[in-house]
Amino acid sequence: MLIKRPDDIKPSEITAEGIYRQRRHFLGTAAATTALLATGGLLLPQREVVAATDLRPLGSLTKSPFSTTEKPNSVEEITRYNNFYEFGTGKEDPAKYAHTLNTEPWSVTIAGEVEKPGRYTLEDILQPHPLEERIYRLRCVEAWSMVIPWVGFPLADLIKRFTPTSRARYVEFVTLHDPEQMPGQRRPTLDWPYVEGLRIDEAMHPLTILAVGLYGKELPKQNGAPLRLVVPWKYGFKSIKSIVAIRFTEQMPVSTWSRSNPREYGFYSNVNPEVRHPRWSQQRERRIGEFRKRETLPFNGYAEQVAHLYSGMDLKKNF
Ligand code: MTE
Repeated sequence: MLIKRPDDIKPSEITAEGIYRQRRHFLGTAAATTALLATGGLLLPQREVVAATDLRPLGSLTKSPFSTTEKPNSVEEITRYNNFYEFGTGKEDPAKYAHTLNTEPWSVTIAGEVEKPGRYTLEDILQPHPLEERIYRLRCVEAWSMVIPWVGFPLADLIKRFTPTSRARYVEFVTLHDPEQMPGQRRPTLDWPYVEGLRIDEAMHPLTILAVGLYGKELPKQNGAPLRLVVPWKYGFKSIKSIVAIRFTEQMPVSTWSRSNPREYGFYSNVNPEVRHPRWSQQRERRIGEFRKRETLPFNGYAEQVAHLYSGMDLKKNF
């Protein structure tokens, strides 16, 4: 990943709440004038896109029994410290620049080994699925973590609806590719569009969800509006944002990070403290907002629910 080693991240880059609030006040003022700032050499209009109050509430939600009881990170932390390289590689870039993403209208193509292929509107995709709140840990490969109250529904319910054929062994997900809307795609930072994949049993696992919101409201753009994947036992990069295609395949998809650096990023990418990233240890993590590091748990603490998916596999080789 084109990222700093976790130990290189200065505490000053992880904004303490008080400083954050001051900056937010500053940004509020700056937003009014829409400043032109450079990000990675791109001159872009900057605007603060997240004001939680601007986002539509998603109505009454059932609370999922799969939720962790850990305290969620604040909405500010969740929406201002992001990885979404389509809007720049800095942690604060997505919050500043994702306003150029147009999420309405939105459609999702269902393709490949499936009985009901087609291009569906987002409304068609979402309509039959009751939404629930799922509070999950997200562990980034960069050794930081957060707790996020997602709103979504099980991916398995969508998969059953579109009925994969018996040849479907994997599911591939693709993010929007539009350099007009996603200025980070004007640079070859990654091989665009961003692609991710799951084995079909991982995709069907009850912990795997498609998220459409967080904190009871629709997803902020920087978090992957209008539709993103969340797979809580895998490193965060598997949780692909702003999905426009879901394809069922016989062959294992080549994910963007594996393509860019297969030595560092495997297809599975299960959270595993025993498998070092070649450039840093994965044994500990820093929860955003905390100073003392925590131990990283196998499968991000979801081992009891998911370890059986990998029985008989050498997870050091299949990282
Ligand atoms: N999806 C796309 N399309 N582009 C990205 O750069 N970054 C990934 C993942 N999904 C990324 C993406 C990484 S590295 C992480 S850690 C999570 O999104 C971060 O999700 P969050 O910003 O909502 O916390």
